[in-house]
Amino acid sequence: MNVHETEKLYAAFEREGIGAADSAENADIVVLNTCCVREGAETRVIGNLGRIKKLKQSNPNLIVAVCGCMTQQEKAAEMLRKRCPFINIITGTYSLGALPQMVKAVRSGEKFILDLSVNEEIPMGINEACRSDNVNRFVNIMYGCDNFCTYCIVPYVKGRERSRRLADVKSEVEGLVRNGAKEITLLGQNVNSYRDGNNDFYALLSELSAIDGDFWIKFMTSHPKDLSGDVIKLIGREKKLANYVHLPVQSGSDEILKKMNRKYSVADYLRKIDMIREYIPHAGLTSDIIVGFPTETEEDFAATLDLVRRVRYNNLFMFIYSKRNGTPAAIMEGQVPEAIKKERITRLINAQSEISNELASVCVGETFRVLCDGRGKNATGKTSDDRVIVFDDGGADLYNRFVDVEVTSAKNSKLYGRIKV
Ligand code: 5AD
Ligand code: SF4
Repeated sequence: MNVHETEKLYAAFEREGIGAADSAENADIVVLNTCCVREGAETRVIGNLGRIKKLKQSNPNLIVAVCGCMTQQEKAAEMLRKRCPFINIITGTYSLGALPQMVKAVRSGEKFILDLSVNEEIPMGINEACRSDNVNRFVNIMYGCDNFCTYCIVPYVKGRERSRRLADVKSEVEGLVRNGAKEITLLGQNVNSYRDGNNDFYALLSELSAIDGDFWIKFMTSHPKDLSGDVIKLIGREKKLANYVHLPVQSGSDEILKKMNRKYSVADYLRKIDMIREYIPHAGLTSDIIVGFPTETEEDFAATLDLVRRVRYNNLFMFIYSKRNGTPAAIMEGQVPEAIKKERITRLINAQSEISNELASVCVGETFRVLCDGRGKNATGKTSDDRVIVFDDGGADLYNRFVDVEVTSAKNSKLYGRIKV
């Protein structure tokens, strides 16, 4: 999400004649697009601001802007202002498109601008044009979240769930495909609850799959309670929909899932996984897991390990529970000590890397259709099920082209291959 928002910011600046600098040291304007989903991301912002303070000392005309969801939290802007009085602009998630205008105002003499106004309209202007040379092109289909998982800050800083019009999403995807895009990733906190009038996520995927061209569509994030059987079957039969599902489970314990307000049980989740395996050939599955949620016992954690070993994800995104002020979990009793959280995440990482290694080694000898996103001896490409394969392109420029690659070896879950001719 943030990567894509930053792409859109580049476009908004370019429209005002402001181009990208090659480094912060050579820039006239530095924008920090922040995230507050976990504490680690916020700590990095503070660390970066320390570095930028030094730049500002040697270049007093440097304009420093902080935007994104971190500033949208209560008292965050105050804290930033106090700790870093050299910041010129603080703005939140709703006014990104206005940032170039704010920069202009600072250039014409304004000392400090603060805009944390909440505007839950779809930010139309900055959706369509976006600067990206990446093979993978992102398209927002919705903003915000209404799920209120008890650990998560997103619903408080990104506002209520709202979907873009189907016609707008479609014309954006058509435009990207016309310009040569081969991989489109649809973005939303909870894509399965997409809705525009009578059109749901199934309708959106059907419409987008009908667009002419050689490309595939991925999407994230799916919520297990909302991913429907119809969508799973559609992915299975529609060639343009990649056989990849990112389905965050968060925990393998029913007790913890309840306290997280996830609204599904482990059994519900496993039923969805079984359906995915049944209807989507060679489905690639990934997930997010939080360890050390308040009150998580050794038994709860063992249940998470069990689930991971049962599902056998290609890849897992694993997080230590991070207390977010203002969320219900932050004031729950039974916060888990840091040392235990660290010990558990290490065990989880080890369990997953064993699985990833095994899943990679059985790919040796298989041939995958790969979308090439690199060049040279160690070119990389992504498969439809979202694995990465490294191969030598033999000097042919295959960037943004589909090629067939045979996997010749696997090392530490990484796949290596050669182009099939
Ligand atoms: N602590 C740790 N991980 C979190 N996530 C969201 N909020 C928190 C938190 N407070 C994780 C979830 C989510 C992913 C994007 O970030 O696993 O799926
Ligand atoms: Fe956060 Fe839950 Fe919404 Fe995902 S679904 S953004 S974890 S509240």
